[in-house]
Amino acid sequence: MKTIVLSLFFIISTLPLSLWAEEGSINVGQDGKSWVVKSRSSTYKVAVMEDNTVAMCYFGNNSYDDELITSAQGNEVTVRGGFTLQTPMVEVIFSDGVRDIELIYDRYEIIDLDGYPTLAIYQKDRYYPLSVVSYIKVIGDYDMMEKWVEVTNNSTSQGDDILIENLQSATFFLEKNQYELHHLSGEWTAEYKPYKTLLTQGVKTIQNKGFYSFGSSSFVIRPYGEQSDTEGEAWYGSLYYSGNWRVDFEKFASGSVQVTGGINFWDENYLLRPSKSFTSPKMLIGYTKEGSDGVATNLSSFTRDKLLNPSNREKVRPVLYNSWYATAFDVNEQQQLALAQRAKSLGVEVFVIDDGWFKGRVNDNAGLGDWTPDRIKFPNGLESMISKVNELGLDFGLWIEPEMVNPNSDLYREHPDWAIHYPNRTRELRRNQMVLNLAREDVYQYLYNSMSTLLRENNIKYIKWDMNRPLSNVGYLDAPEGESRSLRILYVENLYRLYKTLRAEFPDVWFECCAGGGGRVDLAMLSLADFTWASDNTDPVDRIFIQHSYLSSFPAMSMISWVTHEDHHHQNHSLEFKFDVAMAGVLGVGYDITQWSDEQMDIARAKIAEYKRYRPIVHHGDHYRLVSPYQENRSAVQYIDKESGESVIFLYNLAEYPVNSVKETLNSPKIKLRGLDVDAKYRFEGDDIAYSGRMLMDIGYDFGLRGAYKSGIYRVVKVAE
Ligand code: DGJ
Repeated sequence: MKTIVLSLFFIISTLPLSLWAEEGSINVGQDGKSWVVKSRSSTYKVAVMEDNTVAMCYFGNNSYDDELITSAQGNEVTVRGGFTLQTPMVEVIFSDGVRDIELIYDRYEIIDLDGYPTLAIYQKDRYYPLSVVSYIKVIGDYDMMEKWVEVTNNSTSQGDDILIENLQSATFFLEKNQYELHHLSGEWTAEYKPYKTLLTQGVKTIQNKGFYSFGSSSFVIRPYGEQSDTEGEAWYGSLYYSGNWRVDFEKFASGSVQVTGGINFWDENYLLRPSKSFTSPKMLIGYTKEGSDGVATNLSSFTRDKLLNPSNREKVRPVLYNSWYATAFDVNEQQQLALAQRAKSLGVEVFVIDDGWFKGRVNDNAGLGDWTPDRIKFPNGLESMISKVNELGLDFGLWIEPEMVNPNSDLYREHPDWAIHYPNRTRELRRNQMVLNLAREDVYQYLYNSMSTLLRENNIKYIKWDMNRPLSNVGYLDAPEGESRSLRILYVENLYRLYKTLRAEFPDVWFECCAGGGGRVDLAMLSLADFTWASDNTDPVDRIFIQHSYLSSFPAMSMISWVTHEDHHHQNHSLEFKFDVAMAGVLGVGYDITQWSDEQMDIARAKIAEYKRYRPIVHHGDHYRLVSPYQENRSAVQYIDKESGESVIFLYNLAEYPVNSVKETLNSPKIKLRGLDVDAKYRFEGDDIAYSGRMLMDIGYDFGLRGAYKSGIYRVVKVAE
């Protein structure tokens, strides 16, 4: 390992004051060749070494940024070339066949991106026309950073191409220690199951290879044995990418760990023509001393306040009705209007017809690709239906699955080559459908025209954008020269372009991201959509677990939950229990409500009214996951409006044991609240006693909820001084 001496006194660079975001800064060493990037809790150090390479020196606790000696832990941009001791971020083949890269420092600048100071370090290859800019943006107010790279082929000679075989967004190294990786993995209807694994020598990879992932690229790394969720060191990250992604955790024999993440270049490459650049997606990284709950707070509040699509970010989400569980593919105007009338009387605000409304869609065997209303089901078109729904005082929404095609569709009969395929290979079907090759410009134009016409010609205020199968047979042999192995990358570029174009053109439309449930939830998708359908599993007990995990990274205002008839565990749950679970996010109703009794209608009406009272806090407040259902036979989540001090707490009991029959019943029934003022007084709604914030947080409160599958929602207000 090389060792460098960093200047004892870092001087503030020439950066104008306006570039200094709250609690985030970039200090430049006196030599002009070392940088200390600081957020509230973390320090990230980079420096140019004697041999002109750029080293990543430290990432972690920000209490030690003035230390004299800092060791290089690895390169800031790791490459394939020379000694191959680190996980490479950049692997290329130059036009003469050379595959090694040798990067040296060129220059740096500090720029303002979206009001945040951003360090850009320029490196270039010693010989070949390749340059790499690595960026670190300090999002000081949310205590995190974003990293990404841009590579450029600086040649101007035709044919002097550089083939990118791998380009990762970011890497960082952690000092020698024993670490545990926490990540979320899952499958259809069982999304985001939390896993914890010790990082031992070798590489642990989490990845997606089919565009359809019920886990997440979000990860947390903690020192081994760290038990507390609310205290202790945690490094974390998450990718802004919705295609194939990967994150590698390499533990070296020396004991240090390298974390590298970005696009998964498995079976993929990208030809960089002369004078062209390629920018990787961003990777968000952070460090906190507040454990995995500190991570959840940082990630979810940043996503809520800064990332979600700005068109609707400030708005509370509507209560919706969705037809899928009630009528599946068998939809028609009269029956949907009957549902809409009942929905309106419950307090629903948007009525969404799910699958089944478009040409030929009698079941999942037909219709995908033909995005015009089915004339048999809707003889008067959609306009008549929509205006009647609007007259009821409801907004109207539709389900779409633009990226897919059924072989039994006009689109496929006309353009069989638009589906992703190889000649002489099976065209694999999943749910009777194939994936359109969105890397193609003609496919993009077809989808843009179909979707924009639909939105332009109809008063649609809500789109549920589904994606129900992974990629297969990923061939693109008729691609423009050099692009046949870039299908996945080009597909994702056009997917984002389609989202962005439609959102810009129809800014008052809500967009829900769905992929057979939570198969495509990541920071990039959350910047394009308003919310996501977290799972096709609507059983309330399963949902409590899924929601608990979802809230470890993302905000409640992005998490849609419906009340439906599903009851996977045959427990015959009460309607109240189901509502209490779904009300912890964006509430929807999915029952066939035309069949509901007056009593069921009354319960639902009262619950929706109650939800609307709490909704601003659930959607815009911070959340704390007070009790994990993975640790206890109950679960609790608190939402708090930090300004008013008002909280709402959702508590779910999952079992009731005879006293002292299991270890769990020996524990205190009290639950400790979070985020209160220690010296302020708080009162529970319906209770006259005022408790200090200190007591509620240190000792906790017994909510008195007893019995299996029972739930309660509690409001706590700050008592005026
Ligand atoms: C999968 C979704 O997750 C469901 O909610 C529903 O929209 C179906 N697709 C419709 O085909």
